[in-house]
Amino acid sequence: MSSVSRTVGLVTGAGSGIGRAAALAFADSGAAVAVLDIDERAAAETTELIVRNGGEALTGVVDIADEDSVQAAVEHTVAAYGGLDFAVNNAGMASHHRQLDRMALDEFERVVHVNLAGTFLCMKYELPQLRSGGAIVNIASNGGLYSIPNAPAYVAAKHGIVGLTKAAAVDYARNNIRVNAVCPGPTRTPGFEAVAAGTDMLERQAAITPLGRLATPDEAAAAAVWLCSDAASYITGIALSVDGGRRA
Ligand SMILES: NC(=O)c1ccc[n+]([C@@H]2O[C@H](COP(=O)([O-])OP(=O)(O)OC[C@H]3O[C@@H](n4cnc5c(N)ncnc54)[C@H](O)[C@@H]3O)[C@@H](O)[C@H]2O)c1
Repeated sequence: MSSVSRTVGLVTGAGSGIGRAAALAFADSGAAVAVLDIDERAAAETTELIVRNGGEALTGVVDIADEDSVQAAVEHTVAAYGGLDFAVNNAGMASHHRQLDRMALDEFERVVHVNLAGTFLCMKYELPQLRSGGAIVNIASNGGLYSIPNAPAYVAAKHGIVGLTKAAAVDYARNNIRVNAVCPGPTRTPGFEAVAAGTDMLERQAAITPLGRLATPDEAAAAAVWLCSDAASYITGIALSVDGGRRA
């Protein structure tokens, strides 16, 4: 893994899946990590894994869909560690598989609010705290680059995250802050396994992926760690697919 130049960061949704893998990888690189999640117990488990490995981490509760909660979590991180060098906005929610004309407005609004407005709120409070040379990575999806069947709200929200990423990359480049997105394809996380439970979705997704398998959470997380590192110091405003060749 490339080294992380910055020393203090936060990861949202760090109690499971890609977020947990990212928090562990950052800590492995020597960074102090705020492990943030709506599920305090899950976040505490990640923190324990980091501390057991000799790393530095704190647990924080955040609901990314709630502005006061996001502000408090970012302030808690900065107060504890004295600054912010990177942030990985990973928390998000899947939607029910439904065609657009069968989706209630409140379901559409909930999926867009948590995924897109939630990422916006995190960026709103992280950007003023990031030191020069800092970096944000938003975890979007391949559904932020092209469509996934029967997921209109999720696809719209993830496209929005890619748009927000590009807008902030341009606006904050003058502050020497980089903003990128990672767009995972199907990744074998607890969240994805729950969505696939009782179906042959995992096998079907593997079969239509050129590399012939799903990603591991570590593989998606490694891209986020790399984009926050000095090895990616001239990269901003990109949406990087980690998808085993699906986009090709
Ligand atoms: N797994 C995949 O195949 C896949 C593919 C593309 C994109 N993604 C994206 O990657 C991210 C992580 O997905 P995952 O598969 O690791 O999920 P996961 O369900 O395994 O973990 C998600 C974590 O986010 C937390 N969370 C949920 N809502 C939250 C909120 N409002 N505030 C704070 N924390 C919250 C959960 O408690 C959980 O710990 C999501 O944004 C997802 O859309 C995943």
